[in-house]
Amino acid sequence: MKLSSFLHFATFGIKTVLFRKKEPILGTIIVTDKCNLKCKHCSVNNITAVIHPYRQIKGEMKQLYDMGVRILFFCGGETFLWKDGEKTLRDLVIEAKQMGFLIVNIVTNGTFPLDLPEADLILLSLDGGRKEHNEIRGDTYDLIMENIRHATADNICFYMAINQINKHAVKDVCLTARDTKNVRSVSFNFHTPYPDTKELALTQEEKATCCREIVRMMKEGAPVFNLKSAFPYLIRNNFPTPCHQCVVMENGRLSTCGRCIDVPGLCEKCGYFFVAEYTLLFRGNVKIILEMLGTYLKYI
Ligand SMILES: C[S@@+](CC[C@H](N)C(=O)[O-])C[C@H]1O[C@@H](n2cnc3c(N)ncnc32)[C@H](O)[C@@H]1O
Ligand code: SF4
Ligand code: SF4
Repeated sequence: MKLSSFLHFATFGIKTVLFRKKEPILGTIIVTDKCNLKCKHCSVNNITAVIHPYRQIKGEMKQLYDMGVRILFFCGGETFLWKDGEKTLRDLVIEAKQMGFLIVNIVTNGTFPLDLPEADLILLSLDGGRKEHNEIRGDTYDLIMENIRHATADNICFYMAINQINKHAVKDVCLTARDTKNVRSVSFNFHTPYPDTKELALTQEEKATCCREIVRMMKEGAPVFNLKSAFPYLIRNNFPTPCHQCVVMENGRLSTCGRCIDVPGLCEKCGYFFVAEYTLLFRGNVKIILEMLGTYLKYI
C-alpha cells in the first residue's frame, strides 16, 4: 500500500473512532446479478439477470467517490460476465483507479480467464478441496485452478464461505492458498443464513472449531487475510451490526453495509468477517486496530 493511501485511511480511522462518525470508506458496486453458476449457498444470483450499463456504473462510482468511499469492490452475480460494448470489467477497474479509489478489488467465481493486473485483489471464491467445492459450485474446481495458473498477476485472494458442506475443508483451502502460484492469501466468511439457505448455517460450536483451525493454520504460515482478534465475536455473533462504514450500490439503490440489510433478522446471524472486523475497528477496539495494521500492510 502506498504511504499516501495509508495516511488517508489512518486519518479516516482516527476521525471515525474519536468523533463516532458514520461516513463510509468501503463501497461495493453490484455490476450484475447474472451468473453462470447456481451455488447451493447463494441467494443473490440471477434474480434479474440484468447487466447494468456502463454509464450507470460510472455514475455509481462517482457517487461513492463523492461520499468519501476509497476502497471499492466490484461484485455480482459473476463480475466477469459484465460488459457493455467494448467495455469490460478490466476497464471498470482501471477507471476506478483513475477516479481516485485507493484500493480496487473484484469478487469472482474464477471460471473466466484472470487477466486483471490492475486490481489490488481478485477475491476468488474457493469453497473447499475439489470434492466440497464442486458439491457447492458444480464441476468448476479444475477450471478455476487452470485459470489461476494462467493468471497475469499474483493478486488472487481465495474467498471461502464456510458452511455445513465444507466446514472440514478449512485446512485444505489454507494449504492451497499457501502453495499455489499467483495466490497471495485466503479470506473467510461464515455462511450467512438467508431464509432459503438456513440449513447450511454453522452452530456456535462449529464456528469455534473452524476458528481454532484457522488460527492453527496461521501459526503454520498460511496467509490468512483475516483478524483473529475478531474470531470470538464472530463465533458468538456479538459484534455490532450493521457496518456504517460500508455501503453497497445495486442498480442505483444504496444500502448501508450489505444488500442483505432488509432481510428480517439476518444481521443478528451475520457471517461476514469484514462486518465484525470493520465495526470493531471503528469502535476503537485496540487489538483489532493493531492486528489490522499488520495484516493490511502485509496483503495489500
Ligand atoms: C455472491 S458472490 C458474487 C461474486 C462471484 N460470483 C463469486 O462467487 O465469488 C460473492 C461471495 O459471496 C459468497 N456468498 C454467497 N452467499 C453467501 C452466504 N449466504 N453467506 C456467506 N457468503 C456467501 C460467495 O461464496 C462469494 O464468495
Ligand atoms: S458464482 Fe457467486 S453469484 Fe454465482 S451462484 Fe455462486 S456465489 Fe452466487
Ligand atoms: S450485518 Fe446485516 S447487512 Fe451487514 S452484511 Fe451482515 S447481514 Fe448483511
